[in-house]
This record gives sequence, C-alpha cells and structure tokens, in this order.
Amino acid sequence: ARVDKGGYKHFMAKEIAEQPAVVGEAIRHYLPAGDDSVRLPGEGLDFTKVDRLTMVACGTAYYACLTAKYWFEQLARIPVEVDVASEFRYREPPIPPRTAALFVSQSGETADTLAALRYCQGKADHILSVVNVPESSIARESDLALPIHAGVEIGVASTKAFTCQLTVLLILALKAAADRGALSPEALADQIATLRGLPQLMNIALDGAEPVHRAALQLAEARDVLFLGRGLMYPLALEGALKLKEISYIHAEAYASGELKHGPIALIDPTMPVVVMAPRDGLFDKTVSNMQEVLARKGKVMLISDEDGIDEAKDGVWSAIRMPKVAPLLAPILYALPAQLLAYHTAVAKGTDVDQPRNLAKSVTVE
Ligand code: G6P
Repeated sequence: ARVDKGGYKHFMAKEIAEQPAVVGEAIRHYLPAGDDSVRLPGEGLDFTKVDRLTMVACGTAYYACLTAKYWFEQLARIPVEVDVASEFRYREPPIPPRTAALFVSQSGETADTLAALRYCQGKADHILSVVNVPESSIARESDLALPIHAGVEIGVASTKAFTCQLTVLLILALKAAADRGALSPEALADQIATLRGLPQLMNIALDGAEPVHRAALQLAEARDVLFLGRGLMYPLALEGALKLKEISYIHAEAYASGELKHGPIALIDPTMPVVVMAPRDGLFDKTVSNMQEVLARKGKVMLISDEDGIDEAKDGVWSAIRMPKVAPLLAPILYALPAQLLAYHTAVAKGTDVDQPRNLAKSVTVE
C-alpha cells in the first residue's frame, strides 16, 4: 500500500505523531491484554541458558542497543556488550559459550549488521533480531526475529522505529528478568502495567510540545549543540545529537554528564546551547550539578525534565521543557519525543530537506 503524508508537511512529522499508536501496537503484540507474561513467537527462548548478550547495530538502532544495555543489566543482571556493526565484524571478537547475539535493524538489510550476524552464526548459541521488516535478510537469518510493528518508515531520520525498537527491547529485558528470577511475577505484572500506560504519556508529551517548537527557532541559529544525560538518558542524548546532525546539519555531540569536566566543558560559552535530559530520577541531583557547571560558564541550557525537576532546577536555564512524570525505566522512550521534535523543528526553521537529508540513505546495503 502506498503511504502518504496524511496531511503532515513531512513524513517525519507524521511518523513522530504516530508513535503513541505504534508503540501501543508493539506493546499489545508482546503483552496481550488480560495476561501478565511476555509472549514471544517461536520455540521459547530461555534466558536461564544465557550468560551474556552481545548487541550489534548501526546508527539509531545502535543507540537503541546502548539503552537496552542498561535495561538488561539492571533488570535481568545479564552482562551486555554493545558494538557498532562495522567495528564488531572486523575486530573478530571471541564469542564464549552461552552467548546470545542480538541484532537491531529497522530495514533488516544494513550490510554491516548482516555481516556481523553472519559472523556470529555457528558461534553464538542464539541469533536474535529486532527488526521492522519481517521478510528482511536479518530477520530470515536469525533463529528468532522480533518485529517492532512500527509500520513503514519513510523519513530517513528514524523516529518511530527507534521508540518501537526500545519498546520491544524493554519487553525482552523484562522476559529475561522473569526467566532468571530477577523479577518476581508480581514485579513483572507491575512493570507490564506501567508499560501499558506509556502510549497515553506519549500523547500528553506530543500535545504539550509547543515549547520545543519555540526553542527550536533559536536553536536553528546555533553552530554547535551539546546534549547531556546520565544513565538511561545518556544513549538518548546521543540519539538527540544524531537526529539534529542528520536533518539540520548543525554540529551536535553528546556526553555522559559526568564526563563534562573531562573535556567538553572547555567549549561552553554564551553561544553554546546545551540540552540537558534529566527526569527527576535517582541521578537527577548529579545531572543538575553538572548542569550548574554549564550555567556558571554562561552556557545556554535547555532543560528537559518533569514538573518536579523543572520546579527544582529551572533557575538560570534558557528553556525548560516540561514532560509528564514517567517511571524512570520508561523515560528514554518518552523523552525521545522532545529530542526528535527539537531536531525536526530546527531543520524546518533552517529550511533543509527534512525527509531526504543530504548525503544520507534510509538503508545502507553496501559497506
Ligand atoms: C542509516 C539510516 C539510519 C539508521 C541506520 C541503520 O544510516 O539513515 O537512520 O539508523 O542506517 O539502519 P537499520 O535499517 O539497520 O536500522
């Protein structure tokens, strides 16, 4: 079926707006209503037989993997390695017994990711993939392929595929935690109930996104932008910087907030916007103290946080984006929305080709 823009100016805007629906779709698929267990297709993957997880991907899918590392380690206590596919395959890493290898790819056709998968065949106990295209090469060559149910994604800069990848990876981490006894059945049921509420929070975040639009008009004037986050917000900071680079051509980079003092703080001056992603979670005070180091050097801070976080830390910030309160584990999925919208509105303000940015391809099937 032909996909059109459905009244939006760009496919990217449409795909951003679709996220509550498609994330809801992914949740219902793996967590059918009236049941508090995770339903995966196929023979039943048993994480008690898995001692380590190796995750491999490129681009946005790689940042989904980096996020999932926190989930698998914290929830399921499984050690996780994450690599970009082009590094992984040429390093020829050893694959010990009881390793599961997991490949994440929207298209399922990325040449480096597919080659990394083939390297693991015959070495890893399980070849798993998280894909948007169930007929793709990566899906076909996996022992178990988990579709993300995002629907066709046309915008070259990935949006809904990212949040759906995260959703499926979190569900897989919950299953791993349950298999390994790291989550009791009651705790699993609680996590599932919380996850089912996520699409509604995504709707609220999208409805309240006008301040992101206003801030983007100023961000469009910047030459460089720094994104900061800690814990689960660090991979999202990387994804926020990638989105901005891809479509607005503004140089952006991301740092784990705690690394600020080891270099990037030298860049801070009154012309440098710094986007701080910090829900009021266990790491909030630490992130805010890093943010204050930026403010003390007259950096221009955009703080993305919840009501409590903003009330507590808004003094001196240039822009404050209020997000609905969310369980800390789900924050990267919800906070992806303002990160995407910031890049989108900045690119629109600059007049770039949002859906077809220069030099980029939707799917890179050659090395
Ligand atoms: C290209 C796209 C990115 C994407 C990456 C990986 O660079 O422009 O948006 O994240 O490939 O693609 P995949 O299909 O493997 O997720």
